[in-house]
Amino acid sequence: MTYPAARPRRLRRTAALRRLSAGVRLSPADLILPMFVREDISVAGGEPQPIVSMPGVVQHTRESLRKAAVEAVSAGVGGLILFGLPAVKDGRGSSADDPEGIVQLALADLVREVGGDIVLLADLCLDEYTDHGHCGLLTADGAVDNDSTLERYASIAVAQATAGVDVVAPSGMMDGQVAAIRAGLDLAGFAETPILAYSAKFASAFYGPFRDAADCAPQFGDRNAYQQDPARRVDEALREVALDIAEGADAVMVKPAGSYLDVVRAVADVADVPVSAYQVSGEYAMIEAAAANGWIDRDRAILESLISIRRAGADQVLTYWATEVAQRLR
Ligand code: PBG
Repeated sequence: MTYPAARPRRLRRTAALRRLSAGVRLSPADLILPMFVREDISVAGGEPQPIVSMPGVVQHTRESLRKAAVEAVSAGVGGLILFGLPAVKDGRGSSADDPEGIVQLALADLVREVGGDIVLLADLCLDEYTDHGHCGLLTADGAVDNDSTLERYASIAVAQATAGVDVVAPSGMMDGQVAAIRAGLDLAGFAETPILAYSAKFASAFYGPFRDAADCAPQFGDRNAYQQDPARRVDEALREVALDIAEGADAVMVKPAGSYLDVVRAVADVADVPVSAYQVSGEYAMIEAAAANGWIDRDRAILESLISIRRAGADQVLTYWATEVAQRLR
């Protein structure tokens, strides 16, 4: 009878040994909570609206948004990222950079309520604001026009910074967007406002529930001509990251997270700025749906999904479970 000399199980024997040996940790400060704020119900003084495909997530009124932000702060969540649902949409997404636009008003509310206690980010894109649902301006033949869109993005960045945002997060995947936004911010006196670039953002089926949540499904076509192809090798993502950092990105993001952990790892290995990963609406919906059917242990699955994203190398994780998980970790 011979005995194995190497026994990896030794360090797994007790909970205390496992806790001491865990190299990857999750803490509330690493989590960023995505939040939706909707103009028409805010104006009507109505109630927050549940999102059917994302049980537990709502479209907020300005009032309920403030309360939920306070809750996130109490739980120790590191940041929150705001998405706006305007009452009126048009071809150029006018309300995105309107000083009275819903995100700008909500940002000002949050600065008053929780400013300084949590990092306030804003998603910077046009798809929630355009009547056609695309992330940029359209040419006459219906293609998304990269370069004219850049001016819109710079203007939105300035509107958000004026309203008090801490970090702008461009998600439209236009070439040159980080440089354009950096220049716009600098020129307007916001040289200190950081940019978290959605650098490697894939054309993903996992955004399905978000398009209900933010009411931004493209009215024709899809986003395949600007978001990345899931079938491309990781080097394309690394190129996008390198370009964004060269253009002045202060932090970069990979999105979605769960099906792109190889990309997260590759980016984390080379980026000299913080890397975040976005656990998107579909990732949330899948676990909630399986748990609702009793097919999966919800609480364990949530923590496992998040620790995996951290293990792949993400410094921060955007997750709709941020407040709940932060409360559980405390
Ligand atoms: C675009 C944007 C999207 C998401 C975040 N920003 C949707 C898209 O690109 O179609 C998706 C987030 C999620 O699915 O949770 N402004």
